[in-house]
Amino acid sequence: MSDPNDLQAFLNEAWYHLLHGVADSRSPARLPSFCTVSPEGKPEVRIVALRGAEQASGVLEVHTDIATAKVAALRQTPLAAFLIWVPEADLQIRLTASVEIQTGEGVEAQWRKVPAASRVSYGTTPVPGTPIKDVFAYEKPADRAKFAVLRCTITEMDIVHLGASHRRASFVAADQWAGAWLAP
Ligand SMILES: Cc1cc2nc3c(=O)[nH]c(=O)nc-3n(C[C@H](O)[C@H](O)[C@H](O)COP(=O)(O)O)c2cc1C
Repeated sequence: MSDPNDLQAFLNEAWYHLLHGVADSRSPARLPSFCTVSPEGKPEVRIVALRGAEQASGVLEVHTDIATAKVAALRQTPLAAFLIWVPEADLQIRLTASVEIQTGEGVEAQWRKVPAASRVSYGTTPVPGTPIKDVFAYEKPADRAKFAVLRCTITEMDIVHLGASHRRASFVAADQWAGAWLAP
């Protein structure tokens, strides 16, 4: 086993799982819980698919429909938290990020890579969350104009490992991810 006291190795382990979440659809990090604050100030959470991750920039990418409640929340409070549990590694990863909502020409490259079968996730009518008169009274026309990329720049990471002795560390972008051990 690598040195359990090595903060950078601990951080890299978390990034290993984040990167795998993008590359492997069966990886636990593929489907994080994504938390925002509603315009009324209420916490709200839902599962999303992790579509991009880059350790050098500390950026994660999520794709969504511009008409969803999460986008309305992010317009008011452009902050999100991610929660990931990796059972085979006994690892909890919590992240806080500032979020930029990207649409239009700037997300053309990402839209081109979305498979045709997945494009129907963008453009549901009436808009997601609208009451409908019966269960299937909606359409999913695959509307390019509704496709949004949430560019999430991580500011904080909290990592917990449940081992024989538990380990917990906090990392912040502000000190270049130097990290500090915390009581678990
Ligand atoms: C396995 C799974 C993956 C999902 N992936 C996404 C996703 O990548 N983007 C997204 O906007 N919603 C995704 N959803 C749907 C959201 O969980 C949520 O129901 C929807 O986005 C509306 O959320 P909101 O009203 O809180 O914005 C996914 C749901 C499940 C169950």
